[in-house]
Amino acid sequence: MSESVRPFKEVPKLGFFQGLRVVAASGGGRVDMLSGLREQYETLGPVVLQLSGPFKLVNLFGPDANRLVLQDRDQIFSAMRPWVQIMGRIFTNGLLLRDGADHKHHRKIMHEAFTRPALRDYVERMNPIVARGLDSLAGSEPVLAFRAYKQLTLEIAASIFVGMDLGPQTRPMNRAFEDMVAASMSRIRLPWIGREFARGLSGRKYLLETLGGMLEKKHGDGGPDMFSRLCRARTPEGEALSDSEVLDHMIFLMMAAHDTTTSTLSSLTYELAKHPDWQERVREESRALGTGEPGLEELGRLEALGWAMDETIRRYPPLPVIPRVNTADFEFGGYEIPAGCMVVVSPIHTHHMAEWWSDPFTWDPARFGPGRLEQERHTHSWVPFGSGPHMCLGLRFAEAQVRLVMHHLVTRFRMSVPHGYTMPVQQAPISKPRDGLPVRFTPLA
Ligand code: HEM
Repeated sequence: MSESVRPFKEVPKLGFFQGLRVVAASGGGRVDMLSGLREQYETLGPVVLQLSGPFKLVNLFGPDANRLVLQDRDQIFSAMRPWVQIMGRIFTNGLLLRDGADHKHHRKIMHEAFTRPALRDYVERMNPIVARGLDSLAGSEPVLAFRAYKQLTLEIAASIFVGMDLGPQTRPMNRAFEDMVAASMSRIRLPWIGREFARGLSGRKYLLETLGGMLEKKHGDGGPDMFSRLCRARTPEGEALSDSEVLDHMIFLMMAAHDTTTSTLSSLTYELAKHPDWQERVREESRALGTGEPGLEELGRLEALGWAMDETIRRYPPLPVIPRVNTADFEFGGYEIPAGCMVVVSPIHTHHMAEWWSDPFTWDPARFGPGRLEQERHTHSWVPFGSGPHMCLGLRFAEAQVRLVMHHLVTRFRMSVPHGYTMPVQQAPISKPRDGLPVRFTPLA
C-alpha cells in the first residue's frame, strides 16, 4: 500500500457519538434546502451525518461524492430501497425502484421506447399539441404559467405516452394521475377515506384499470406512442415485458416526465422573462430555423436555448437531492460510513459550489458556451439528470420537449413578469414556483 493511502481501519467511523460532523434535522422548514446544505458543508465539511428520527442520513457533498454514489462502481448503493420507501405504494415497480441485474434488464427493454427514431416521431406529433395548448396563454393579464405548463404536459402525456385522442375523456385520467403525484409526496401515508394518500391509491387503481383495458389493442396496433412501443419492445434475445410490468412502467414514466418538465419550463420562462436580452437571443435563433413546427434535428440546432436550459436546471434542478441506501460499508472523505445509511447526494448544492462555478448564484447561460465550458471542470459538477446506471432515461425526451415548447413560446409571445418580481422557489421535493409564476404572454406582431 502506498504511503499516501490511509489503512481502512484508521479511517474515523461515522457514528452517533462522533459529534463534530453530526447535525439534527432542521425542523419546520425554517431555512430553504440549499442554504441548509451550504451551511452543513461550510461548517462541517463534505461528510455530514444528519439525525432524522431513527434514520441515519448521511449527506455527501461535491462532485466526487456524486461520482462515487451515482456511478456505483462497487454496486453497493441501492436506489430501490430509498425510492420504494418514498413512493413505492403509488409508483410500484417503476424503473427507479429496481436494482442490479433486474434493473438492467428492464432498462434495456425500455430503451426501445427512447431510440432516436422514436424521439423523432414523438416530436413530430407533439408540435400540434403544443401549438394548440399555448393558444389560451395570450392576453394582457398575467397567467399562472406553472398551472398552464402542468396542463400542457398532461395533454402531451395523454397523447404521446398513452396514445389517447385529446378531449374530455383524458380528464379523469389526468385527475387520477395528479392525485397519485400528490399522494407520493404526502407526509401522511394512511389510506383514510378522502385523504390525499387514499386518493392517490384510488388514482393508481383507476389508471391500472384504464390502461389495462387498452392492452390488447396496444399489443396489436403497432402504434407510435410509448405505450405501444413498450408492449412490442424486445431485447436482442427476444425477451419482452409482461402486461403488468408494462403498466407499472407506464405509470412511473408519466410521473417521472411530468413534474420535472413542468418545473424546468417554469424556471426557464422566469429567467427568460427576467433576461430580455437572452429571450431575444433565443427568439432570433428560433426564427432562424424558418419553421413553425421544428423536428428533432432542428431542435438540436437551438444552441443558445440549450445553454439557457442547462443553466436553468443548474440553478433550479427539478430533483434537488438524490437518495440511496448503502448495502455495504464504504469510505469517503476520510470517513467510514456503515452499511444501511440513507446516503444523499445533492445536485442543488454541487451546482452552487464556488469551487466549480463562477458566480454560481447568477443565471448566466454563456458559462455553458465556447470559451468557458464550466460544466467540464468535473465530470460530476453538473448532474441534473443524475448519472450512472439510473441516469434519467428520458433525458433526450425532456430536452426535446422543453426546446419544442420554448420554440413555440418565443416565436409567438413576449414573456414578461411584473416589475420587480422575484420568483419564490420551493426547492423540494421538486423545484417549483410557490406562487404559480405570474407571466404575461404578449402576442408578437
Ligand atoms: C428536465 C426534466 C427531467 C429531469 C431534470 C430528470 C431528472 C432525473 C433524475 C435526476 C433521475 C435519477 C434519479 C436517481 O438516480 O435516483 C431520473 C431518472 C429517471 N427519469 Fe428523469 N428527469 C427528467 C425528465 C424525464 C422524462 C421526460 C422522462 C420520461 C419520458 C424521465 C424518465 C426517467 C426514468 C424512467 C428514470 C429512472 C431511470 C432508471 O432508474 O434507470 N425523466 N430523472
